Amino acid sequence: MMPSLVRFSMGLATAFASLSTAHTVFTTLFINGVDQGDGTCIRMAKKGSVCTHPIAGGLDSPDMACGRDGQQAVAFTCPAPAGSKLSFEFRMWADASQPGSIDPSHLGSTAIYLKQVSNISSDSAAGPGWFKIYAEGYDTAAKKWATEKLIDNGGLLSIELPPTLPAGYYLARSEIVTIQNVTNDHVDPQFYVGCAQLFVQGPPTTPTVPPDRLVSIPGHVHASDPGLTFNIWRDDPSKTAYTVVGPAPFSPTAAPTPTSTNTNGQQQQQQQQAIKQTDGVIPADCQLKNANWCGAEVPAYADEAGCWASSADCFAQLDACYTSAPPTGSRGCRLWEDWCTGIQQGCRAGRWRGPPPFHGEGAAAEV
Ligand SMILES: *[C@@H]1O[C@H](CO)[C@@H](O)[C@H](O)[C@H]1NC(C)=O
Ligand SMILES: *[C@@H]1O[C@H](CO)[C@@H](O)[C@H](O)[C@H]1NC(C)=O
Repeated sequence: MMPSLVRFSMGLATAFASLSTAHTVFTTLFINGVDQGDGTCIRMAKKGSVCTHPIAGGLDSPDMACGRDGQQAVAFTCPAPAGSKLSFEFRMWADASQPGSIDPSHLGSTAIYLKQVSNISSDSAAGPGWFKIYAEGYDTAAKKWATEKLIDNGGLLSIELPPTLPAGYYLARSEIVTIQNVTNDHVDPQFYVGCAQLFVQGPPTTPTVPPDRLVSIPGHVHASDPGLTFNIWRDDPSKTAYTVVGPAPFSPTAAPTPTSTNTNGQQQQQQQQAIKQTDGVIPADCQLKNANWCGAEVPAYADEAGCWASSADCFAQLDACYTSAPPTGSRGCRLWEDWCTGIQQGCRAGRWRGPPPFHGEGAAAEV
């Protein structure tokens, strides 16, 4: 506790309202308002007990890029047209078992970064190639920190992808930096980071990001940055400007596609690949989706052996569902389990024609 400190423009009641250990986590991506499903296309810490916690390990940790476990790809990559609206949903409890987007005592900035990768499943998130497309610190007109506006927006941070963003695979990185623990004698800014895997459908060009806007993560911020040392208990952000950490935001413009004079086969091949998504495609025929798992139809059967084979297929898929379920939950897996159990019971009871129709929750089951 910091009993003698009362932050500028905030009452005591708010200041000490929450001592909860739930902080915040990016759980859900919306593309042009369409919910992609909890955890779908999102690199999130796998362990529920720490998934809402700030990054541990300091500013040099590879976790700075896409958070805990963020170096590992998830199975699905969501297609998003250049210029589309992306909304990042943040929750205090990953599975939404309790309401809240971020602990209200946490004050600071929000930012979105992009990095184009040639291979979304194997390229490293940590390292060079990142640029910032959006940042907000303190809004002097509204007298609110970006984190307070996030709460006002029900946990949704919305940005527009640059309309001329070149086609290809991207990591879209959300970064919340909170500075409520930066005090006179203790400097402990907190980073909350997560990434979405995107396939941007845009012009077939290469990004033209000036070198001074490209950063390596980790390495894009330093402990001495004013945005990390700003003391909200001493300085009034409506008088002393707050500077969000990292490079200035930049919106890439598409470079014209090189024409016939281009004899660089490799480059042309890359551009070809960039047109159509081949990796991380979400199967169109998912009977049910849970985060980055998709339930595929089990083989049809007309005898006892076939019935048991389909039952085994169903349960094998179920294992993969539970294993891959992130802290946002496994509701889809439980629905799938009911269905597998139905097939199994049918095999026992001599109902050897199937499978029975899947009565999931349809689109609503895409949790
Ligand atoms: C990306 O890397 C994975 C794993 O190394 C590989 O299986 C896949 O074919 C690669 N995709 C492309 C488009 O090169
Ligand atoms: C950091 O802030 C949290 C609340 O956000 C508080 O519970 C914790 O005691 C603080 N730690 C320090 C070292 O100030």
